[in-house]
Amino acid sequence: MANPKINPVLGINQEVFNQTDWSSAYCNVEKECTRTKLKLINGSVPKKLNGTFYKNGPGRLERNGAWVHHPFDGDGMITSMQFSNGEVIFSNRFVRTKAWEEEEKAGKFLYRGVFGTKKSGLKISNACDLRLKNIANTNVIKLGDELLALWEAASPYSLDPETLITKGLSTVNGVLKDKEAFSAHPRFDPGHHKEPRMVNFGVTTGPKSTIRLMEFSVEGNNSGQLISDRKDIFPGFSFLHDFAITPNWAIFLQNAIEFNPIPYILGLKGAAQCLRSNPNGKAKFLLIPRDSGLFPKQSPRIIDAPNGFVFHHLNAFEEENELTIDSIFYQDFPSISPNDDFRKIDFNQLPEGILKRCKINLLNNKIEQEILSNQCCEFAMVNPSFQGFSAKYSWMATASKAIGNAPLQAIKKLNLVNRKAFYWNAAPRGFVSEPIMIPDEYSQNEDDGWVLILLWDGATQSSQLVILDAKNLKHQATLELPIKIPHGLHGTWVRNKI
Ligand code: CO
Repeated sequence: MANPKINPVLGINQEVFNQTDWSSAYCNVEKECTRTKLKLINGSVPKKLNGTFYKNGPGRLERNGAWVHHPFDGDGMITSMQFSNGEVIFSNRFVRTKAWEEEEKAGKFLYRGVFGTKKSGLKISNACDLRLKNIANTNVIKLGDELLALWEAASPYSLDPETLITKGLSTVNGVLKDKEAFSAHPRFDPGHHKEPRMVNFGVTTGPKSTIRLMEFSVEGNNSGQLISDRKDIFPGFSFLHDFAITPNWAIFLQNAIEFNPIPYILGLKGAAQCLRSNPNGKAKFLLIPRDSGLFPKQSPRIIDAPNGFVFHHLNAFEEENELTIDSIFYQDFPSISPNDDFRKIDFNQLPEGILKRCKINLLNNKIEQEILSNQCCEFAMVNPSFQGFSAKYSWMATASKAIGNAPLQAIKKLNLVNRKAFYWNAAPRGFVSEPIMIPDEYSQNEDDGWVLILLWDGATQSSQLVILDAKNLKHQATLELPIKIPHGLHGTWVRNKI
């Protein structure tokens, strides 16, 4: 293994973390707050930040002494942090899903989780119970007047954007059929064809997979209205968590994965635990032409992709006859086996995410792949105005050490052209979540703005909101949160209307 370089200025490459510090974030959220003003620990909140930071993630991990098998099975809990004039107002509420209401009443798990959580009571009761528990825990976005709590295998739940009160399952303005899947990873087209749009997909899978690609208006009175809709069928099983967009294409990476349903049906494993890399399979890029692009109504293209497993993409862009897509690759599908406790996982035994760039030649279908950074990372994004365009900068969560798998403890700004990086490192006792880059709307510079993160501080056993300068990752402010929030998933920034 290469000897990782220590950067004395940036303080990266701290290898030591305490497993208990990391795992202590996994606790139940015990309280729901309504408009609590956040207390500043240090620094100052930039007055130019005007909007709401919404965040989703698992908030209920244990019932009556029984734990979820994987945090991804935890019920969705939404936080909102409203920024105005240098102050931040905090609220949080669980999404009142049907299953959450039932389990709250019963005081125990009544449903199996996709990632292996078992129903309380006799083990045999899990067999043949194939009901899906829509836990609405993966992402939260605003579309029109609706705040949507997303979970990819079912329809979203609609919440009041101000009070976070759950209104019920959403059809997204009549677009989705009953219980239809709607991915948790919509992409916001900043205006590739004049008006900005939200592009999202839903997938139904089996021996064949159907991808429904939908584009929604996000401006004015028509916000939330469907403006483009297509369905395409592809051979093979698909596990598609995320995708990327360019002006002409929606790009999916169909991992070489197979699904063995037997242990799931027998109640021995959760559905996601039955996914395995298919050694004889071949990953594919699925390129679906966007109706607003140059190739509407044309058939999709299927192109062989490199090996590895991908949950998340950073961004994609196109130049002449070449498509570039940056993605976080794992050597294999990471999973927690039925007898393991997720709080005690050995990070060294799991593959780390590595940011790689694939260039797809659209004339001959040849792929070139290169590594953008060897450091373990997740949750990467570009300036939202550069979504689908060639961005120079990216922001992501990384391990504190330079090589190998470890918890996410640092924020990194990576220059995608010269590969130089800035870091803000919370190690050894701090643990970061997905960074949200918010551009300074009064600046033309791609990296002017701020980065927001929720931090778990192992030393004080508390959650904090941290604000960094997007350009150099200099610390701006830390605020104390009134509740403990487990390591979470995705979130969004919604700008105040001017
Ligand atoms: Co995701």
